[in-house]
Amino acid sequence: MAKGWTKSDWRAKPRVQMPDYLDSAALTAAETQLGKYPPLVFAGEARKLRKQLALAAEGKAFLLQGGDCAESFAEFSADNIRDTFRVMLQMAIVLTYGAKVPVIKVGRMAGQFAKPRSAPTEVIDGVEYPSYRGDIINGFDATMESRQPDPNRMLQAYTQAAASLNLLRAFSTGGFADIHRVHSWTLGFAEHDKAERYREMSNRISDALDFMTAAGVNSDTAHTLQAVDFYTSHEALLLEYEEALCRIDSISGLPVAGSGHMIWIGDRTRQPDGAHVEFCRGVLNPIGLKCGPTTTAEDLKVLMAKLNPANEAGRLTLIARFGAGKVGDHLPRLIKAVREEGANVVWSCDPMHGNVIKSSSGYKTRPFDSILREVREFFAIHRAEGTIPGGVHFEMTGKDVTECTGGLRAVTDENLSDRYHTACDPRLNASQSLELAFLVAEELLAMRVQDRRIAL
Ligand code: PEP
Ligand code: CO
Repeated sequence: MAKGWTKSDWRAKPRVQMPDYLDSAALTAAETQLGKYPPLVFAGEARKLRKQLALAAEGKAFLLQGGDCAESFAEFSADNIRDTFRVMLQMAIVLTYGAKVPVIKVGRMAGQFAKPRSAPTEVIDGVEYPSYRGDIINGFDATMESRQPDPNRMLQAYTQAAASLNLLRAFSTGGFADIHRVHSWTLGFAEHDKAERYREMSNRISDALDFMTAAGVNSDTAHTLQAVDFYTSHEALLLEYEEALCRIDSISGLPVAGSGHMIWIGDRTRQPDGAHVEFCRGVLNPIGLKCGPTTTAEDLKVLMAKLNPANEAGRLTLIARFGAGKVGDHLPRLIKAVREEGANVVWSCDPMHGNVIKSSSGYKTRPFDSILREVREFFAIHRAEGTIPGGVHFEMTGKDVTECTGGLRAVTDENLSDRYHTACDPRLNASQSLELAFLVAEELLAMRVQDRRIAL
């Protein structure tokens, strides 16, 4: 990584989207406390994830990144963690079937607490309040007191992240993730009368599993059928928190972000000379970089050089988030920039952040069809350019919420108020997430069939 870098260098750089803490003594006390806590992840795990992402850059693995837009203190429960984990595993099996390569599972979990906002203040019932910036910074309630940034929230976020990760690790290896059990849930989904389209693929997966069992490959003989690697990730937005959890890896002697396995830089904090890039360039974790309509080829080139100077595969994932109908305007020019630099990157598609609309009922929503359309455009452009679509990035939950419209259970504008629970952006619910995985798997399968035809 960067030579001579220290974890506090970001403090000398221009910062955006970060709170101004009024009580500097309380801030220092919270940072000192956090600095004494153990890191949440081990550097060896971050290195392992980098190796797996290096395979995704070559099309030999596929990244599935997903979870809450913003984790919240109020919604923290074992059931919520379990349900999101479960649907991600279901999606991963379906995607493995489509892509015919291992699926790397990375949750937006155990640390996804801080949010960039479009304006510093918002007006609620005629009163202007500081914007809500995520539970790690301030409270959602519309009172001046709750909206005041409170550094002690970092300690609560750490505790919640530690407990979440503990449960995720237990689910990953304790038997919950057994492939037969996870697939049996998917069969339940495919029984829905409107899920006919997905029934055939889920039956084909059942056949493949039955065949393996008959051939003696089962959960007792093959560890990978009953345990999974599951990684955590979040936007590295609140740099006081990131710095306090940054540690030196005892094996390589390099700095590592101890707050999660992968961290990413958001579309609003990717200034090449800004504080967020400065922090992220120095840690050994895999880094994500959101690329939006305003990302210029010049900036991307500078960012790639800063974030991955040794051009190592698996270090940098470019997360494209343009909006349905706009991928063609932007992705080709950024692919060209990557090609000109000979840069090693994983291309992932976030079809969420460019597709937010205000529904007729006043709720912020995302239509399922726009999400799907953006993914399809992303695949089609990679196909045309001869580059590799390496993954997908979703805001989703395992709960039956009504936040995005569409899908086979047809959430409508009028239904949005039924179970609209998000503290921030609208998420795909469990059924919409799994349905999308089937549709992405169909795309991946179709690409393979075309590739085979070309090879013949
Ligand atoms: C996010 O991923 O929650 C987010 C804010 O995305 P972006 O930075 O791409 O807008
Ligand atoms: Co979001």
